[in-house]
Formats: sequence, C-alpha cells, structure tokens
Amino acid sequence: MNIGIIGSGTMGSGIAQVAATSGCKVKLFDTNQAALDKARVALEKILARLVEKGRIVTSEKDRIQANISYVETLKDLSDSNLTIEAIVENLEIKKNLFSELESYVSDACIIASNTSSLSIASIASSLQKPERCIGIHFFNPAPLMKLVEVVPAIQTSQEVLETSVKIIKDWKKTVAVAKDTPGFIVNRVARPFYGEALRIYEEGIASFETIDSAMKNIGGFRMGPFELMDFIGNDVNYTVTETVFTAFYFDPRYKPAFTQKRFAEAGYLGRKSGKGYYDYDKNGHLIQR
Ligand code: NAI
Repeated sequence: MNIGIIGSGTMGSGIAQVAATSGCKVKLFDTNQAALDKARVALEKILARLVEKGRIVTSEKDRIQANISYVETLKDLSDSNLTIEAIVENLEIKKNLFSELESYVSDACIIASNTSSLSIASIASSLQKPERCIGIHFFNPAPLMKLVEVVPAIQTSQEVLETSVKIIKDWKKTVAVAKDTPGFIVNRVARPFYGEALRIYEEGIASFETIDSAMKNIGGFRMGPFELMDFIGNDVNYTVTETVFTAFYFDPRYKPAFTQKRFAEAGYLGRKSGKGYYDYDKNGHLIQR
C-alpha cells in the first residue's frame, strides 16, 4: 500500500515510521527541505537506537528506511492509496493543500488529516469528493502511542471509514472512532488538565515544578501538564486550546491562558526550541536546574 504523508515535522515523521514499519511504501513530503533532512536524520538515529537495544535487527532497520522516500513536490504523492496531512494547524492552509492534493491523486485515494482540533467537515468541504476525507489523529510520539482517533466527517462515506479503521489496526494501533467535534475525545478531555494548571500558576498558587510534581506523584500521571506542554510544543498546544475555545462558542471552560500565549509568541515552544517552561539541551533532554 502506498502512503503519502504531508509535513515531515514531529507528527508526520512519526506517522511515516509507523506506516513504513508495517510494510507500507511511504512518501514523505514537506515544503521545507531542512525539515525533510531533519526527519531523515532523526529516523536514522531512532532506528539505530532500536538496533542497539535489540528491539529490531539491522535488516529490519534497512527495510524500514528503504520503505520511506523523501519527496519535494506534492505531485509526487499521486500514486498514494492514502494520504495523511500533518502540516501547520491552520484551516485555510490545510484546505488549500487538500484542494491541490486532490488534483494529483486517484479518485480512490483516501485523504486524511491528523488535525488535533479543526473541523473535518470543514477541511472535507475543500474537496470535489468530500466523502473521501477523514480525520486520522495520532498522538505524540506516533510510533509509541497506541491510540489513534479516527474521525469521520458528516460527508465521509462508510467505506472510507471502514478502510481507514482497518489500515490503522493493521499498523497495530488501537482505534477510537470519534465524532467530528472540537478536540474529538482526548484533546477535549485534556484541555482542563493544561488550562487549570496554567491558571493555578497564574494565580501564584504553585510553580511549574510543584504542579508537575503533584500531578505525577499524587495524580499518577506519567508527565505533569507543563512537561507535557513543552513536549507537545507551546505553539501547537496553544493553537489547539484557542480552536477548541472558539469552536465551543467561547465556553469559559476552555479559555486559553496568557502565559501560554506569551510563551508561544516568544518562541519558548518547549523541547523543540530548547526553552519552554523548562530548559533543554540540543538533544531535547531536560537541563536540571
Ligand atoms: P510541526 O511544526 O512539527 O511540523 C509541521 C511540518 O509541516 C513542518 O515541517 C512544516 O515545514 C510543514 N509544512 C507546513 N506547511 C506545509 C505545506 N503547505 N505543505 C507541506 N508541508 C508543510 O507540527 P506537528 O506538531 O507535527 O503538527 C502537525 C499537525 O499534527 C497539526 O495539525 C497538529 O495539530 C497535529 N498534531 C500534533 C500533535 C503534537 O503533539 N505535536 C499531536 C497530534 C496531532
């Protein structure tokens, strides 16, 4: 099966690894050559580490790498059976991309978005054949997180839903089919986790470290809210909150926090920029204070 992935950032490169590991032929496209190079180098490192740890053998590493090609035009995805878009979380940019993409791929190609919070119905409306559009929402890091939300829009055909669910299960993921509502399941449930943590900080009740420590040690979470926002990226996380807040007609439960807005504006994005609520070295490892 031929898979086209658009956007070779955090999510696109991880999804490419998942599909290639399951034996699909993957073409990874990005408008930014540096992002493609970065994805190639990062995959090489990840797979080399898996070999070192004895999780895969060298021939498996070579097979996965050979399954991925890095392409420089959208047209190169024309032989895809399924495309998954993982570009910037911006509705107009995604709609323009989908409309162009549809002119290159066959009528049978499923066109999916990895959006965290945007309306699939709205993205689908940019297509001549909106019934082929669906949300396929992976979590970060895609190779490790088992859950994938599959989100049919009201236009999506039953056949496209069933085929998408089957493909994702073949990739050894657990599927949760969710309705096309803002934030779907997980990102909606998670909004108060981040939002209340930011409010507690803003009210001067506790520091980032104390809140994270409380949630890990008492709440039993693997990561505290600030560690997790740094991991996801403050730009991405803020945008999701803003989208969910707006889409729920400004319901105060989802109100974004100025602290996170300013962090995103300042480029304090978290691990990927070296600075967020915490500081990170060039490999993305936490620098202990
Ligand atoms: P990212 O910023 O790491 O990567 C986005 C990539 O898309 C960049 O390499 C950029 O050069 C490329 N790009 C931008 N416009 C493009 C275009 N028109 N054509 C081709 N490439 C283009 O972003 P990330 O974090 O991978 O997010 C991508 C999508 O996945 C977003 O919709 C986000 O909401 C969603 N998502 C993000 C998660 C996360 O934890 N970061 C989790 C689940 C979903």
